[in-house]
Amino acid sequence: MSERLKQIAAESAVELVRDGDVVGLGTGSTTYYAIRALGERIRREGLSIKAIPTSVDTRIHALEFGIPITTFEEFEQVDIAIDGADQVSGKLELVKGGGGALFREKVVACNAKRFIVIADESKLVERLSMPIPIEVLPFAWRVAERELVKIGAKSVALRRAKGKVGPLITDNGNYLLDADFGEISEPEKLEARINRIVGVLENGLFSPELVSEVRLGTKEGVRVLTP
Ligand code: A5P
Repeated sequence: MSERLKQIAAESAVELVRDGDVVGLGTGSTTYYAIRALGERIRREGLSIKAIPTSVDTRIHALEFGIPITTFEEFEQVDIAIDGADQVSGKLELVKGGGGALFREKVVACNAKRFIVIADESKLVERLSMPIPIEVLPFAWRVAERELVKIGAKSVALRRAKGKVGPLITDNGNYLLDADFGEISEPEKLEARINRIVGVLENGLFSPELVSEVRLGTKEGVRVLTP
C-alpha cells in the first residue's frame, strides 16, 4: 500500500514539471517513482528538460530512464526540485538523510525555485523526533559525536554500511552520524547549532522556508500541504 501512496505523490509532482525546466532530482524510494514518471513524460511528450541528481543512485536511475543530466556548473538554479523525506511535520519541517543522502539534497533544495516534497502519509508527524542524520568529515567524527552530546543528543550512532561492520561512506566520501535529540521543539535552531560544530558538513533538518509544498500520498488521494 505505501508503495502505491509513494507513487501517486511522486507522479503528481512530476506533472508540475514544464518543458525547458532544470529539475533537481532527490534520492530514495519515493523519488524513484518520480524519476521513472519523468522519463515517461520525456518519451511520451518529448519534454525537453535537464536534471541535477542528488546522489550516485539517482544519477544512474535518471540515465536509465533517459533523463539528460546537468550540473551547477552549467546552471545557477533548478526550476523545480522533487525529493522525499523521512519525517514531515505539520509546519513543513523535514528530516532527510534516512537513506544516506542529504548533503547534495540540501544544496539542490537551497538552490531551487520550487522545492516539492513527496511522501506517503506515514511520514507526517506532529513533531520531528527521529534521530537526525548528520554528514561528518571522517577525520573528525569522534569530535563531532562528543560535541553533539554536549548540545543535547541523547545518543549518537555511526551509520554502518549495510551488512558490514565498517561505516557507511556517503557519495561525498564522508561518514554519517544519527543523533537522537528526542522530540525537537525548535528544528531550525537545532539545525544551525549542529552545523556550527567543526567537522559537521551538513545535517538532515530542512527548514520549512525551503519547502514550496508537500505532496502526501493518502488512501483518499494526494493531499497538498503548503506553507
Ligand atoms: C535520502 O537519504 C533521503 O533524504 C530521502 O529523501 C528520504 O530518506 C526518503 O526516502 P524514501 O522515499 O525512500 O522514504
